[in-house]
Amino acid sequence: MAGEWWRRAVVYQIYVRSFADSDGDGLGDLNGIRSRLAYLSELGVDGFWLTPFYPSPGADHGYDVADYTDVDPQLGTLADFDALVEEAHALGLRVLVDIVPNHTSREHPWFLNALSSADHPDRARYVFRPGRDGGPPNGWTSVFGGSAWTLDEPSGEWYLHFFSPDQPDLDWHNEQVQADFEDVLRFWLDRAVDGFRIDVAQALFKARDLHEMVEPDPPTWHADWVTAVNQPELHPLYERWRTVADEYPGERMFVGEIVLQDHVTLARYVEPDRLHLAFTFSLLHAEWDADAMRHVIDDARTAFDSVDACPTWVFENHDVTRLATRYGSVERARAAALLMLALPGAKFLYQGQELGLEEVEVPDAARQDPIFFRTAGERVGRDGCRVPIPWENGPPAFGFTTGTPWLPMPDAWTELTVERQRERDDSTLELYRRALAERPSGALVWRESPAGTLVFERGSLVCAVNVDAERLELPAGELVVATELPVDGALVRNAAAWIRVIPGG
Ligand code: GLC
Repeated sequence: MAGEWWRRAVVYQIYVRSFADSDGDGLGDLNGIRSRLAYLSELGVDGFWLTPFYPSPGADHGYDVADYTDVDPQLGTLADFDALVEEAHALGLRVLVDIVPNHTSREHPWFLNALSSADHPDRARYVFRPGRDGGPPNGWTSVFGGSAWTLDEPSGEWYLHFFSPDQPDLDWHNEQVQADFEDVLRFWLDRAVDGFRIDVAQALFKARDLHEMVEPDPPTWHADWVTAVNQPELHPLYERWRTVADEYPGERMFVGEIVLQDHVTLARYVEPDRLHLAFTFSLLHAEWDADAMRHVIDDARTAFDSVDACPTWVFENHDVTRLATRYGSVERARAAALLMLALPGAKFLYQGQELGLEEVEVPDAARQDPIFFRTAGERVGRDGCRVPIPWENGPPAFGFTTGTPWLPMPDAWTELTVERQRERDDSTLELYRRALAERPSGALVWRESPAGTLVFERGSLVCAVNVDAERLELPAGELVVATELPVDGALVRNAAAWIRVIPGG
């Protein structure tokens, strides 16, 4: 395969619990994924990322890992995993797994040992501290709401958890932690994975003095703490991880979940010999506004170019409201898809994005996300984007499971199943399939265009997006793919098209 495959890759995120269920328990699993691999290959993606499938009590749906080198019995076995990788590779699909190094589950043997006695050596793997003035050691708050500290009553010390109390943070200043994770990487690399998505990659090391984290003012994205995470120790760590990946044949790669807004800071993570990719969440956070999107695209490209890396564009994942709902319409989500798939750099799609799914209003009684519970319902959480995939037929399970789906699926999805969308030429699924097959290459060159529009060329392909203008005149050429058919040679508002032109013409 061509060198540095990740620079052009489109990777499909599989939220394992919600993709396909093979055994009728209502939870997606590895064998369910195996049964749907042909779908991914026909869609035209280069590979997929599996969200955590490791043994886990499920407090954060797999992001609370109790054993880093096994498969949760509810989701399959190591033999199923090996078969999945082999079958994916036979179809030319790369497989990425999710590594969760910031925290373990409360049920991980290391943490159980740590709680068993203040003298146990495993205690040093975590961040235990005495309190301050009868309260926690500092004012850090958890991403999921409330304090980031929980009292361990027998010892009188507090332990740190950036997420829920069921997810105690590891102390990455501890050398044993570092050595053990290298073994975890090798365990999966030996099983032929093509790489890793690194969870919470900017936060493993905390400032040793645990000084207060100062939120940017005005506050911008959640979790964009800048003073106590994003520590200098991360870069040598990722250089070592890169060395480990490079020992293996076949171009294994890392993509970091790094929730930092500033592209220059972000680009430091993908300097040569560090991570291959880092999600560029700025586009995901941009409004449906031509100037805002163009600014983000150019600013990111400048920062990444300066370190000879490329951005990693993403509009959806299992933590954010679905794109069609954020942008207020499926039309805009479709137009955004053609914009993103035309950009230079890597791209990640989230399962269901290719179906144009909207955020689901999950009834409170069915909600599962710890964010909902830790904020007493003030934040509804992420269940609405995690509802299982509608494959075929109708409610209640749309071919996802023969049992009851772990989150209820809306009746209105009957028209949006994979089966139905395959039959319709104008469906969102067909739009993605065609765009993935026609992905452009070459440098991005902006073309002059009216306010409220984005037009650029890459090679012989022109990508035109009418974000908010009355009409956008299209250049002469062959219409390759469009979200709406042009009217009198022009695109209506909230529409996009790719046109093949004679270069420079
Ligand atoms: C990441 C994951 C999110 C999880 C959190 C804690 O942000 O994407 O789903 O809850 O880390 O592991």
